[in-house]
Amino acid sequence: MGDSHKHHSLDLEHLDDHLERVTGIIGDYIKSISDEPVVTRIPMEDIKDSLFEEMPMEGSSPDDVLDQVEKSFKPACTRIGHPRFLAWITTSPSPAGTIGELLSVGFNQAPLLYKGSPPATILEKVVLSWFAEMFGYSDTWGGTLVSGGTVANLMGMTVGRHTHAPEVADKGMQCLDKPLTVYVSDQGHMSVYRSAMLLGIGHNNVRSVPTDENCRMIPEELRRMVEADKMAGMQPYSVVAQAGAVSTGSIDPLNELADICEEMNLWLHVDASYGGAAMISEKLRPLLEGIDRADSIAVDPHKWFFIPLECGITLFKNKQQQKDTFIAKAVYLGQETDWDLKNTNFQLSRQGRALKLWFAFKTYGVKRLAEIVERNHKQAKLFYKLTTDSPNWETVCDVELSMACARYIPDNCCSWSETELDNLQVAILSKLEKSGLGFMTPARICGKGVIRLCVANHRTTDDDITLLFNFMTETGAKLAAQRS
Ligand SMILES: Cc1ncc(COP(=O)(O)O)c(C=O)c1O
Repeated sequence: MGDSHKHHSLDLEHLDDHLERVTGIIGDYIKSISDEPVVTRIPMEDIKDSLFEEMPMEGSSPDDVLDQVEKSFKPACTRIGHPRFLAWITTSPSPAGTIGELLSVGFNQAPLLYKGSPPATILEKVVLSWFAEMFGYSDTWGGTLVSGGTVANLMGMTVGRHTHAPEVADKGMQCLDKPLTVYVSDQGHMSVYRSAMLLGIGHNNVRSVPTDENCRMIPEELRRMVEADKMAGMQPYSVVAQAGAVSTGSIDPLNELADICEEMNLWLHVDASYGGAAMISEKLRPLLEGIDRADSIAVDPHKWFFIPLECGITLFKNKQQQKDTFIAKAVYLGQETDWDLKNTNFQLSRQGRALKLWFAFKTYGVKRLAEIVERNHKQAKLFYKLTTDSPNWETVCDVELSMACARYIPDNCCSWSETELDNLQVAILSKLEKSGLGFMTPARICGKGVIRLCVANHRTTDDDITLLFNFMTETGAKLAAQRS
């Protein structure tokens, strides 16, 4: 056979050396994460200049490409695992989770059918069974691993819609005489609205239910809105309860909402994407009492379980409802079995996400994870105490989980308009970010712009919280002095 017929694969000659270098780069990154600025100080123009280039038609050595990764990518990274990265609800990934992820990428399993990966298929069932037990579901539970909370909510709302109106699967939403409506508190995550858009329900048919002074859905308001919609010819089908709302960490009264859903025949989906981690703590678990009554639950291991992105879960109380929604036949796939994960999810090919979760849970044990969850809860309380004790801070909402919201109030605040006060919070956060010391994000609660602290971080210490508080208090005073 001549050279022209030779098969050239993409294998690399010095694979071991490259892999060793890669693990070295990752190891150094993780070990030095606390020593670098949280958000890079490199200007965007420079990052663009160092990364934009023409599509390469010819290859180069992996070592040269790795040089570029070290020179241009790594320094520009946001140190998400830094102890003072306390923004959004993006967790500091546990190193054991990272090891699990590396293995998962290396094995590249395809658990769409059992034969695509026997171990990844079984491991998905194993980790899901841990979560089903954690949330108090009985043997009829179903579940699936997904990319994150957004998709986990979409999955719950989809199975809810299919169970409520199965005819839509074949005939489309236009077959319904009465439009479907969904109910979520005014603290509801935007993914609920996005899901409603994707499901053909529409943003306008998501009802925003008023909340109490601690941002929890008011059950009587829910009942009133459902009844009004029924009278107006709508078809209420689902309530999405928040168990850890995105801005405040508030938890809706789950038992009361479950009572209403049972009585009014509504699908109860609980968005515990963030707050679900409270279930591993004996102290915090009572906050989520009633969650086992939900028809579906979203929970994100990549939030407060310290698993690297991406990893979300939807659990279903009744696996048959999940299967009825997602069952699909395709001759080209070959022989199918009851274990095939393709009938649990709308995706076909997907990453095996169970390995990293399994690896982290086995390495640390759930007790250790629970200790960190409880510590993070106390750290949010510490920030709350520092701000309530200070005449220069106003707190908003009690701390339920590991979030605290407050706003800096300058000494002569009477002369400040609400907009100026709002802008002051953003200016303080911007100074914090530029200092490299920490990264936190704003929120809007009860019409007020606030600074929001979210501790879902296994490296944060109490001193980090105090340092951030002191920095922001000093910065607030300086900015206020500049104005007057
Ligand atoms: C309560 C809640 N639900 C859903 C989501 C969406 O999760 P993800 O970003 O993983 O899609 C978030 C994200 O912060 C959230 O806080």
